[in-house]
Amino acid sequence: MPFYQRLGDVPRKRHVQFRENGTLLTEEVMGLEGFVGNESILYHLQSPCRVMELAGFEPIERDEWVPDQHAHRHFHTYGVEPEGDEITGRRTLMWNNDVEVSLCRPSERMDYFFRNGEGDEVIFVHEGSGMLETIFGEVPYKDGDYVVIPRGTTYRFAPDGPQRYLVFETPGLIEIPKRYRNAYGQLLEGAPYYHRDIHPPTRLNTVREKGEFPVKVRVRGGYQTYVLDYHPFDVVGWDGYLYPWTFSIHDFEPITGRIHQPPPSHQTFQGQNFVICSFCPRKLDFDPLAVPIPYHHSNLQSEEMIYYVSGNFGSRRGVEVGSITLHPSGLPHGPQPGLAEKAIGMHETSELAVMCDTFHPLKLSTFARDLDDGRYAYSWYENAQDTGAGVDDASGAGLTSHL
Ligand SMILES: [Fe+2]
Repeated sequence: MPFYQRLGDVPRKRHVQFRENGTLLTEEVMGLEGFVGNESILYHLQSPCRVMELAGFEPIERDEWVPDQHAHRHFHTYGVEPEGDEITGRRTLMWNNDVEVSLCRPSERMDYFFRNGEGDEVIFVHEGSGMLETIFGEVPYKDGDYVVIPRGTTYRFAPDGPQRYLVFETPGLIEIPKRYRNAYGQLLEGAPYYHRDIHPPTRLNTVREKGEFPVKVRVRGGYQTYVLDYHPFDVVGWDGYLYPWTFSIHDFEPITGRIHQPPPSHQTFQGQNFVICSFCPRKLDFDPLAVPIPYHHSNLQSEEMIYYVSGNFGSRRGVEVGSITLHPSGLPHGPQPGLAEKAIGMHETSELAVMCDTFHPLKLSTFARDLDDGRYAYSWYENAQDTGAGVDDASGAGLTSHL
C-alpha cells in the first residue's frame, strides 16, 4: 500500500501475453474498490481458482461478556498460556463492527495457508521473530514490528521461537494517516516515519510443487477451507501498491512539545472508525510550568484501549507488561491521584505501548472477563491518599505519560 513495488518477473506491459517455457501464465489483478483503488498484478503458474476440493466451513463463534456495570477495565494478559497457531490461537478480547482485537501466543506450526478474505490485519509482534511467508514473497519480522497484511494475501507464519502478538482485524482498510502524506502519497517531512521505515517483501520464492495444499480463507464470518493441487506460492512476479509490509514501533519518531501533545500526535495507522497509536520513549513536555502527563479527559465518542509493551510502569499501580486498560466512552479518566504533582519536572519516559481508539463501543469476550482485575474502576478512589504511586525515579523513566 505505501508505494510502488515490484518483485520477480513481470511483462513489459500489463494484460499482454506472458509465458514461461511457452506456457501462458495466469495474470491476476488483486485490487480494492472496484478497480479504482490500490492494486497489485500477480503472474501465476496455475490459476488461483483451481480448487481440488471444497473442504469444511467453520463459523466464527464469539462468547460475549456483557458486564453488569459500565466501568474502566484492566486486563492482565501476560500469563495467558500458548494455544493453537497464528490463526487458531487468536483469542478475541474485544470487538465491534470496525475492528477485532485479539491476543495470540501460538504453540503450533501452521500446516495450512491462510487468507483473510474480508479484512485487513495488523499484527503487533510483542515478542518473537520469524518469517511471514506470503504469495508476494517473504516478509521477515521481529519484536516491535507491526506486520500489516492486506486482505487477499495468502500467507503462512514460519516463526522462530516463542511468539506473542496483539492482533487487529478490520473489515475496513489499514492506511497511513492521510495527514502524513502529500497529494502524491509521499510521506511528509513532519510525519513520524518515512518510506525507509516501511519494509515490503524482501524476496519472492516461486514454489513449483504439486500436491494437496489446504488454504483457509476467512469469509462471511467463518473459515472456508479450499484444497489446491498446486502450491499457492506459484507467483513468478508481481507489481503494484498492495502487499504486506512491516513497520517497527521503534522507528516511530515521537513528537513532543513544550506542553502536552494529544494522542493523535502518536497516531501510526488509520482504520475504519478507529486509530492505532504508538507511545514510545521520548522527552516529556519542557515548559517550566508544564504538567507532563495527560490532563483528565472525557473522550466522549471513543473507547481507548492501551496495551503495555515494555518500560517501567511504576506510575500506574498494578499495570505491568501485557496489561491492557480499557477506558470506555462516556466516562472521564486521567492520572491516578497524586501523579500530576509528582510528574512535574520529570523530563523523559521509557514507556512503550500500543493504543487502539475506536469511535464506536466495543463488546467484550468471556476471555476478557477472565483476565479482568475487577478493581481498576476504583483505582482513583483507593489510591486517593497516595502521592505519586510508584514513581521513585526523578527522571520520569517510570512515568506512564498517556492514559
Ligand atoms: Fe485517554
